[in-house]
Order: sequence, then structure tokens, then C-alpha cells
Amino acid sequence: MKVAPSILSADFGKLSDEVKAVCIAGADYIHCDIMDGHFVPNMTMGPMVIEAVKKASGVPLDIHFMVENIPFFIDMYKHLKPEFISFHIEAEKHINRVIQKIRNEGIRPSVVLNPATPPSLLEYIIEDVDMVLVMSVNPGFGGQKFIPSALRKISEIREMAEKRNPSLLIEVDGGVNDKNAQALLEAGADILVAGSYVFKSGDYKKAIESLRV
Ligand code: DX5
Ligand code: ZN
Repeated sequence: MKVAPSILSADFGKLSDEVKAVCIAGADYIHCDIMDGHFVPNMTMGPMVIEAVKKASGVPLDIHFMVENIPFFIDMYKHLKPEFISFHIEAEKHINRVIQKIRNEGIRPSVVLNPATPPSLLEYIIEDVDMVLVMSVNPGFGGQKFIPSALRKISEIREMAEKRNPSLLIEVDGGVNDKNAQALLEAGADILVAGSYVFKSGDYKKAIESLRV
């Protein structure tokens, strides 16, 4: 299991120290939540802050867009060469075109499903993405409670991927902790995003290791 700490719950007053600390503690990716105040009722970081995060990070970036106007945001962040760009399929009419746009930049494309979005929407795109990000809370804020139906959704996506895209990665985001990590692994998750569980823990290394089930 890989672990991607979400810096949304980090101390923004010393963000680069926080990024360095979770990298030393064993993070596989740094998960960056970009919100626009339209798709979700919150705003976070812009590309200049993510540039500073990239400088401090010893591991690749995992960018999660919670935005409308996705192509505009891709152009704003593509020079940072993250490992993944994930975008919400609820926010985009031309899903296939946007997947291609991300791949053409040499970045691995990923689509995100909100808690109430069915996995059947992946029917005609599952071959085209490197990852699916399953939201296990409603996007916009850290520190919310895990929504258990995410487990069934992960299993269904894993089953669909077995035949059609065996190397597909499944990432889970929201309310992840040491209590649900094992069930997430069994359902078929590959990467756990954890914000408050890691950053509010007091011991980043211990928290990250407890998720690596
Ligand atoms: C929520 C974000 C998450 C958030 C998770 O919209 O996408 O990445 O940081 O926070 P926790 O792990 O605290 O639920
Ligand atoms: Zn996220």
C-alpha cells in the first residue's frame, strides 16, 4: 500500500518544513488539493504555493483538482510535472479530451468519483486512465468521517479493471485512518490519501507506517 499525505491538514505557516517532514517519514507522494471556490465551497493553494511544495518534496506530486474549467487549471500546473493529475468527472463534459490533454503533457491521468457518483460512469474511460480516485468524503474539507460505501465502490472498480485495465491504480481520499486501511486494501485500493490522520498525529512516521497495511 502506498501513502500520499494530503497537505491540506499541514501547518501552512511552515509548509515546506511539513512537506520535508512527511517525505522523511516515508510518504510515497505529496497529495495537493486544489480547490476553486466553485466546484467545492473552499479554496486552497495556487500554482506558486505548489511550486514551493515541489521544491521541498523528495517524492512526486499527486495533484487533485476540485475545480471547474479543468483545461485552464491543467495549463496552470503542467510545468510542475506532477506524477498524477486527478479531475472530477462530475465537473467535465469532455472527459476523454481532458484525459488526452493530461497524457499529452507526460502526466498520468486520473479521474475522481464523488461519494454519490456510480462506478458505471467509468465504462468508456477505464482503459484510458492510469488511476481512479474514489472520494470517501464529500470533497472540500479535511477531517471528515469516512463514508463506508466507498469500500463497495472500490471493489466494483477493481473488478471492472481486472479485465479491461489490469494495471489501473485505485486511490482513496477522505477519512482514511489505521482503522479502515486494512478494509481498503482488501477492497482493492493501492494508494491511501491521508490528511488529518497524518498531520494531526504528532508522529508522522508512525502514522504513515500504520497505513501501510
Ligand atoms: C478533501 C480532500 C482530501 C483531504 C482529506 O476534499 O480531497 O485530500 O485532505 O483529508 P482527511 O484525510 O482529513 O479526510
Ligand atoms: Zn484530495
